[in-house]
Amino acid sequence: MRILIESDAAAAAKCCAELISDLVREKPDAVLGLATGGTPVQCYHQLIRMHQEEGLSFRQIRSFNLDEYVGIAPDDENSYRHFMNQQLFQHIDIDIANTSVPNGMTDDLQAAGLEYEAQIADAGGIDLQLLGIGRDGHIAFNEPGSSLASRTRVKTLTDETLRDNARFFASVQEVPTTALTMGVGTILDARHCVLLATGAGKADAIRDAIEGPITSQVTASALQLHPKATFVLDADAAGLLKRRSYYDRAR
Ligand code: PGA
Repeated sequence: MRILIESDAAAAAKCCAELISDLVREKPDAVLGLATGGTPVQCYHQLIRMHQEEGLSFRQIRSFNLDEYVGIAPDDENSYRHFMNQQLFQHIDIDIANTSVPNGMTDDLQAAGLEYEAQIADAGGIDLQLLGIGRDGHIAFNEPGSSLASRTRVKTLTDETLRDNARFFASVQEVPTTALTMGVGTILDARHCVLLATGAGKADAIRDAIEGPITSQVTASALQLHPKATFVLDADAAGLLKRRSYYDRAR
């Protein structure tokens, strides 16, 4: 695992965007795994800036998002599809037909999960998967107790996640209680996993994910099993790491 600790959230977002842009330049038809939430927004701003100022092109890029709420239509402003369109896709030259977000509006969610897995496989697998982390250590919506071998399926959100995500809704009652999400196994299949975390609110989860045991209680800890996992952190998110000086020296 590479642990890259930057001074602040802006520097961490830039570092993360550079990992993505390096891949896009090297492999213009790369398959990107993308994430939603508050954390990746600054990283997406950087990618948009690189597109506008440096000619970074996403024309041949294929993308798969981690998850989508069940029962929220793609054109609903709380959907993750809407988030991606607003925060990234409409500002770059990606072909929207080449962007995928799980379909949380179907009657057959199990089939939708299998279909999503098949689409990822057909695209040749994910080259780089961007991840956030929940305060409970989740990656995508793989809440504590999720199988570390899980594939795309429906998960019930924990009370903590519902409260955390309520900031995007009018009230906590409006947050959908289930989501269609890539599994931990799906994520581990990506050729490079990049987890971006910022802020002191993530420090416990980051300590547990990097320096704790591998456990389904902290699904981000499964990244310890990945041959190429990179954590990009700001100093606050890294604040409880015991081996910080080693990580800085090993950069
Ligand atoms: P956040 O969400 O970026 O909004 O903190 C991260 C996550 O829950 O994965």
